[in-house]
Amino acid sequence: MSTAPNNREIVICHDPAALAEQAADRIIAAAAEAIAARGQFTLALSGGSTPERLYKLLAAEPRCGKIDWQRTWLFFGDERCVPHNDERSNYRMAAESLLKPAQILVDHIFTVPVDLATSAACAAAYEIQLRAFFTSSGDSGFPQFDLILLGLGDDGHTASLFPGKPTLAENTAWITSSPPGVLPPPVDRVTFTFPVLNAARQVMFLVAGTGKSHIVREILENRPNPERHPASGVNPQYGKLIWMLDEAAASALTRKV
Ligand code: 6PG
Repeated sequence: MSTAPNNREIVICHDPAALAEQAADRIIAAAAEAIAARGQFTLALSGGSTPERLYKLLAAEPRCGKIDWQRTWLFFGDERCVPHNDERSNYRMAAESLLKPAQILVDHIFTVPVDLATSAACAAAYEIQLRAFFTSSGDSGFPQFDLILLGLGDDGHTASLFPGKPTLAENTAWITSSPPGVLPPPVDRVTFTFPVLNAARQVMFLVAGTGKSHIVREILENRPNPERHPASGVNPQYGKLIWMLDEAAASALTRKV
């Protein structure tokens, strides 16, 4: 049984709709707090399918008007190296569910360049963008995002940090390129590295469905190895770690707190 880090909160929601609603309300609160404290809210979006319902809630009233989008800056925690209009693109999913409906200004959205010769070049170009924005990267030397949203693959990956890949050992770059994992789509990726994830003020995992219940239990209740289950390597050094689960994803947990 792992000793839970004291910065970790597990929130179990009735179903995917409740998960999206509660996550949306927490994001609204995080935005208000960040803007009040520092005049801006830096939010890194997750890819995959789970966040789509959440993004649609944030793009619609009554929630959309509760976020000061003029002081909010959006990034992507990872991206597939495909054109932004490709159905596999994380940008495309976010654009359709949030960015366009909420009419977010283009200069408030940091998209990952995906049209360079290699995924490594895309990663380097994205890092240059982020370094230009985060002019002060704190004591750690890494950018301190106010909130990073993450998903969980049933192989234990998160963002595009896949089991057994060299990307897991990257501890100086902010952004790195990642070869495909075993889960689809089998395309090169660009991803935040562990130091960036762990420098965040808050990281929020969004996990739904019975299919994730075994990996959720492995990560939250056993002594997982980040090499095998990279999501277990996410533990913000000075920030909060929130696991937002629906009851199905939490169904294998032996302790519900
Ligand atoms: C990606 C995501 C990835 C995703 C998980 C969960 O680009 O694929 O960043 O890490 O969050 O694979 O995906 P689902 O939400 O579709 O289960």
